[in-house]
Amino acid sequence: MMALPINEAIKKGEGKEVTIRGWIHRERGSNKLKFMILRDSTNTIQCVIERQVIGDERFEIADKLQVETSMAITGKLKKDDRAPTGFEISVTGFEVIGPSDSYPITKDHSPEFLLDKRHLWLRSLRMQNILKIRSTYIQARDEFFRDEGFIRFDAPILQPSQCEGGSTLFEVKYYNDKTYLSQSWQLYAEAAVFSLERIYNMGPTFRAEKSKTSRHLSEFWMAEAEAAWWNLHDVSEFAKKELKYCINKVAEERAEELKALGRDPEDLKKICKKEWPTIKYREALKILKEKADMKVEFGKDLRTIEEEKIMENFDVPVVVTHYPKEVMAFYKPKDPENPDEALCFDMLAPEGYGEIVGGSQRSTDIEEMQAELEKEGEDIKNYDWYFDLRRYGSVPHSGYGVGTERVIAWICRLDNIKDAIPFPRTMLRKSP
Ligand code: 4AD
Ligand code: MG
Repeated sequence: MMALPINEAIKKGEGKEVTIRGWIHRERGSNKLKFMILRDSTNTIQCVIERQVIGDERFEIADKLQVETSMAITGKLKKDDRAPTGFEISVTGFEVIGPSDSYPITKDHSPEFLLDKRHLWLRSLRMQNILKIRSTYIQARDEFFRDEGFIRFDAPILQPSQCEGGSTLFEVKYYNDKTYLSQSWQLYAEAAVFSLERIYNMGPTFRAEKSKTSRHLSEFWMAEAEAAWWNLHDVSEFAKKELKYCINKVAEERAEELKALGRDPEDLKKICKKEWPTIKYREALKILKEKADMKVEFGKDLRTIEEEKIMENFDVPVVVTHYPKEVMAFYKPKDPENPDEALCFDMLAPEGYGEIVGGSQRSTDIEEMQAELEKEGEDIKNYDWYFDLRRYGSVPHSGYGVGTERVIAWICRLDNIKDAIPFPRTMLRKSP
């Protein structure tokens, strides 16, 4: 009999014989009965093996089967109102496909142990739920950009220079020379918008972050977009639209998975219906002073603790614009009206999840960018191709990058960003 996914099999209904296949998620038994919860990618279902039904010889084999054995099971669907699927299976036959002996993950392990065993822990219902949500989120994003008429554009991962500051670059041996892993798709996207105008991508992004926070990965998937003719207002409003679309879609299509992780999908839908405020950095400093009695002087980037204090006043993401120019990346332009401010923005998530998006209008002032880069100790010759973009038919343009794992961590209410990616890389972890 052809095997069906568990979710398809249970549609056959009471009394019908089905074959399913998957892995033993839990098992327990007595002398006469063996209960097994079988798991596949779609669901779990309890299977009951009775000595009387399958005979002594087969029962002895079944009795010894352990957690994570892979198998095919044939049996009759039986209504069971207590079961999450509404059914259990009375087994009439089974085949062991891959035995499993003493599976190393039992229960109450430390997060570090589970990270060491990540290759196995991916089978947990928790990781299954998170990874399904991640997939739906990424697919929704592709849909969004396709519907908005954007063109997907791929940039190199090996890049000869920095975009977001030299201190977090990963150096790579390159034949007899060296190069770096991408910190952002942006600089190459800026070349492409003068050809394709509205583009997007999602790609592996690397940062040698010397911080061990619950928000930083060394390798993550940044989801970026860049468009010709956009200004700061256009780009930050568009970022809100993207996130609202994707989060709402996840809330609709992954309601069960979100609930299992302790997040009410209806709350996410409500968040997406609300207005997401935009405030200036200087207003954020005022909030800090008035609501948290924290005095931060103009001229510094916001620290985690400050972001958290600001966000205690909001239950939806907030866009903060006009950060101090002097601490911003070289490509972020001065606001002509307030030259100490940059035409840039961050989007901060509520509930202490911090910065989820960073973006800006792009500078068109070659000399100013050169001066910034020189201040950072860069050889401006490496950026000459980038300045060409301003020399020949430049137009105003803007873009932003979303930290995919930051968003997943927030919407899944994860304690640590490491669970938002299958195999996390951090300062302290590079395997398995
Ligand atoms: O704010 P960032 O550094 O912006 C850029 O790289 C721009 N070049 C993007 C652009 O304009 N196209 O990074 C963008 C987002 C952050 O807001 C954050 O969500 C995420 O990427 N991010 C990280 N996520 C996990 N681990 C890290 N180490 C991250 N660094 C940034
Ligand atoms: Mg940033």
